[in-house]
Amino acid sequence: MNNLMNFLHVSAAIVWLGGVSFMLFALRPAAMDLPPPQRLPLMTQVLRRFFRLVWPCIGLLLATGLVMLLGVGMRQAPVGWHLMLGIGLLMFAVFGHLYFGPFRRLRAAVEAADWPQAGQKLGQIAKLAQLNLALGALAIAAVAIWR
Ligand code: HEM
Repeated sequence: MNNLMNFLHVSAAIVWLGGVSFMLFALRPAAMDLPPPQRLPLMTQVLRRFFRLVWPCIGLLLATGLVMLLGVGMRQAPVGWHLMLGIGLLMFAVFGHLYFGPFRRLRAAVEAADWPQAGQKLGQIAKLAQLNLALGALAIAAVAIWR
């Protein structure tokens, strides 16, 4: 049971953080060569599809993480597990803000063909995604090192 939880948990983390790495380090720099009226609708469509995957990953990370954590008990759990819970909740909040703030405005700006505004919102999304990637790395380091 715990092995299954661990497998689902790690798989969800790979899908989320792997997708963010691909966006930030491969797609975004390559798309920078395109003119804004092509680049911004493309990036919006890509993000729309990717975020549909991120929501179930968040649900899975939270559910499986809590099953493992509560299975051992909060008092018995290593410090790293507590850190992962805290950092994980922070990551979910950052993603929620990114999704309902800059991403919603990005979609509206693209629909209105307001390219300067859309470019600015995409820049904000990239910064928040970088923050979440760093937090994710920290959470994994905490649980791997602080056993
Ligand atoms: C807030 C909810 C979360 C809780 C309660 C939680 C809980 C846990 C627990 C208890 C473990 C240890 C499992 C074990 O060693 O048997 C674990 C491992 C892990 N978690 Fe989380 N986690 C959460 C969020 C996240 C997030 C947001 C990520 C990354 C996107 C993540 C990635 C991982 C990875 C990769 C491991 C495996 C590390 C290893 O085995 O060395 N978790 N988590």
